Amino acid sequence: MRHVTLVQLFDHPITQKYVKRSGMAHAVACAYHAFRLSQKYEVDPDLATKAAFLHDIGHYTWYRDGKWDYALYKENDIHAIKGSERAHKLLIRLGEHPRTAKEIALAILLHTDSYLPDGYLKLNPLQHVVAMADSLDEEPGGEHHYRKISDERARKMLIRLDDQINSIMNPEEMKRSI
Ligand SMILES: [Fe+2]
Repeated sequence: MRHVTLVQLFDHPITQKYVKRSGMAHAVACAYHAFRLSQKYEVDPDLATKAAFLHDIGHYTWYRDGKWDYALYKENDIHAIKGSERAHKLLIRLGEHPRTAKEIALAILLHTDSYLPDGYLKLNPLQHVVAMADSLDEEPGGEHHYRKISDERARKMLIRLDDQINSIMNPEEMKRSI
């Protein structure tokens, strides 16, 4: 059973503020990639899409003299750590099951290793799907963070994705509601 939908997440002011900062178009595209990959790697589509949608919610703005300072960002960024905590708090507030909220938070924490000292991360299938969904939508120079999408279109796309997730998770319920 799904406790929180993608559209509920989209409508929350915290998402509007922080996911928009890192790029709503990127977040929606990643959620779609995660849905497709969740089928291929047999992971829960509800968890994968929510983690992918929220994976960049922890971004901070690294501006110097009105311009994005990539070196400053590279050196000081902790967006995965921040995002993991922020997404967890948001999900719990919206009534998410604590076990699900923890799994999503972990997938967000591990979607990139850019903030870690050199090492090797062993990802579980859900974490792997979320990391892949992100890299599939990345553009050189971080351009994916600036791609635009209207609120209306983003909301419509998330409603459509919610329906697809529901039809996979509760096929019987969907039949009755049609
Ligand atoms: Fe991303």
